[in-house]
Amino acid sequence: MKFRAIMGALCAAGLMCGVSAAQAAESVEVLHWWTSGGESKAVGVLKDDMTKQGYTWKDFAVAGGAGAAAMTALKTQVISGNAPSAAQIKGPLIQDWASQGVLVPIDSVAGDWKKNLPPEIDKIMHADGHYVAAPFSVHRVNWLYINKAALDKAGGKVPTTWPEFFAVADKMKAAGIQPIAMGGQPWQDLTLWEDVVLSQGADFYKKALVDLDEKTLTSDKMVGVFDTVRKIQGYFDAGRTGRDWNLATAMVINGKAGMQFMGDWAKGEFANAGKKSGADYVCAAVPGTEKSYTFNVDSFVFFQQKGQKAATPGQLALAKTIMSPEFQEQFSLNKGSIPVRLGVSMAKFDDCAKKSYADEQTAIKSGGYVPSLAHGMAQPDAAAGAISDVVTKFMNSQQDSKSAVAALAKAAKTK
Ligand code: GAL
Repeated sequence: MKFRAIMGALCAAGLMCGVSAAQAAESVEVLHWWTSGGESKAVGVLKDDMTKQGYTWKDFAVAGGAGAAAMTALKTQVISGNAPSAAQIKGPLIQDWASQGVLVPIDSVAGDWKKNLPPEIDKIMHADGHYVAAPFSVHRVNWLYINKAALDKAGGKVPTTWPEFFAVADKMKAAGIQPIAMGGQPWQDLTLWEDVVLSQGADFYKKALVDLDEKTLTSDKMVGVFDTVRKIQGYFDAGRTGRDWNLATAMVINGKAGMQFMGDWAKGEFANAGKKSGADYVCAAVPGTEKSYTFNVDSFVFFQQKGQKAATPGQLALAKTIMSPEFQEQFSLNKGSIPVRLGVSMAKFDDCAKKSYADEQTAIKSGGYVPSLAHGMAQPDAAAGAISDVVTKFMNSQQDSKSAVAALAKAAKTK
């Protein structure tokens, strides 16, 4: 009686309605790297939803954009027999973890997922014919964010080609504005580099970074890619070394810098700072990439828990919540992404998200929808890591473009 009375009171207060004692006792440990302002707000939606369902949320956040540090922490946890309930894993890494035999299938809550996911993304969520991962949202990587006041000072026209981009950057410089905000970390360097690869066309990108075609990797066009990156570097500030991506975004938000190359999680920072697209900042496709779309789909996988063979109620509730239309909407509104679930209304989203959605549809039809290398969607870890090393070396030395291209072709062979 007493227990029921307490549950009744909690329910009246809007908490833990219809929660069984067993659920109330389960705590779900969740490993992720969403620690910036916008990211925390987005993952907070999941935490709140799970708490309302009676689960205890144990946050295992490992700071570091793009998750390199989180992945190291995860390996240690799994090896020591303390795998979290769920972890943020994406792309080919999902299959890797599944092949270790440490994941649990979540098919029982995924009955309607197939018809509600784009086929290329539904496929990634599977291993051995079972759903083992739940997708959050779609991030577009090939964005350029521009401070509106800085753009106005530089003539007001959004650059759509590299010559136009350099003209805008020069005008910003002349107006005393740092043209580009950049964080010097390997994944940020790789993000910029893949943007420039994409600006040579989606077919070139696919041949180079999905097929790892040697002819494409060693082509004159690829030499030109490195030349363009070198030129872009001329507009960075001296303080870029080690700078986190969200601090670079803050420079654009505050008008200390004019532009940033970054995926649309940056939009979560603008939103969190109360900035409006169109009025305070402009989102544009990276010059030359208007018709293409590098996708980055975040997802959670679920680890077998001690003494359990199948997914626990908490793990199933997590997966189900992540794919629910309400969560998909609220999460992406905070995260800067768009829902991955098909058919979720875009009515509450801003112009940038609406553009992302429209461009995604166009790119899917035209063959311009390509997986991001820098964000773990295009290649297994080994090859992606080796390519990343080549780009990092190039961007932190005076290496010439031809030598970088030779190193690139070698790195692509890493298995
Ligand atoms: C990406 C991830 C995004 C975003 C970003 C910066 O790899 O997919 O969700 O958080 O890293 O941390």
